[in-house]
Amino acid sequence: MVLKAEIHSHLEGTASPALVRKLADRHGMTLPDSLFTNKDSFRWTTFLEFLKAYDMASAVIRTPEDYRDVTYDYLKRCAEEDAIYVEVMSSPDHAAMAGMAYQDHLDGIVQGITDATNDFGIEGRIIVTCVRHLGPDQAEKVALQTVAAPHPLVVGFGMGGDENAHHPSDFAWAFNIAHEAGLLCNVHAGEMAGPESVIAALDHLPVKRIGHGVRSIEDPDLVKRLIEEDITLEVCPGSNIALGVFPDFNNHSFLKLRKAGVKVTLNSDDAPYFETSIGREYLIAREHFGLSDDELLNLTRTSIENSFADQKTKLKLLARLQST
Ligand code: ADE
Ligand code: ZN
Repeated sequence: MVLKAEIHSHLEGTASPALVRKLADRHGMTLPDSLFTNKDSFRWTTFLEFLKAYDMASAVIRTPEDYRDVTYDYLKRCAEEDAIYVEVMSSPDHAAMAGMAYQDHLDGIVQGITDATNDFGIEGRIIVTCVRHLGPDQAEKVALQTVAAPHPLVVGFGMGGDENAHHPSDFAWAFNIAHEAGLLCNVHAGEMAGPESVIAALDHLPVKRIGHGVRSIEDPDLVKRLIEEDITLEVCPGSNIALGVFPDFNNHSFLKLRKAGVKVTLNSDDAPYFETSIGREYLIAREHFGLSDDELLNLTRTSIENSFADQKTKLKLLARLQST
């Protein structure tokens, strides 16, 4: 048994088709059949269609209780696969589109984490995340909401969405608000765009980690920079193959980045959309990347060491790894 940790998963994107249907029933909402496949997974083909399906499914998360249930359900599944720490990215923009105030969405997530910690011993933290294609003004609003309502479980600020919309410099203001308030930052880059997107993110945003960053391998100078600046990549192999970033696992950059000395970690991104889980990502790393149990445990160590949790929590989690 290998203990696991995850530092890149989108909370709204963790809700399974079954849970999405349950929440829709709870609110008397009818979802289009086209949202699901016959196998009861989510239906999408391109990245932009994936984002649309994600938006549609997220619209059923409408109350603090819903957010609590989505969070609890996900952390339970992670704990069942031997995860001891999970950072979830929450999206106040999706909550707002479903009619919820920032504080209500946060209260629900905090309750979900607290209940899951009590029931399964798993630790959870929150990275509040803005949506790139909604633009810099909206991102600034989210940053201001985040710093106006600090909570010990909210440890980070980040950005997902369409990487080809806007430029990282447009979001410097929003990120600086969060960073100056003590939040650690990450940003999606080098997933749906090339190394120049990662360079722009590093040039303009106060980030410690890059979401994905897997296309950095195309630029040797950038690979050097990632090592020199001690940037951790939140790699999501199953997501990358599902979204066509690489044709297959043999062509994935994970091993090359790792061999070069870049800090890499394993993550599921949006588990049900990519028919994955944190457990499956570790299995992929074992079967396709040939990693041993010791090497997998070292990846867990990298995730914990570079998580956004406080030092005391990190030491407690690292001690748990030591005792296995
Ligand atoms: N939002 C949810 N999943 C995402 C991904 N893989 N890339 C960018 N934005 C996202
Ligand atoms: Zn992501």
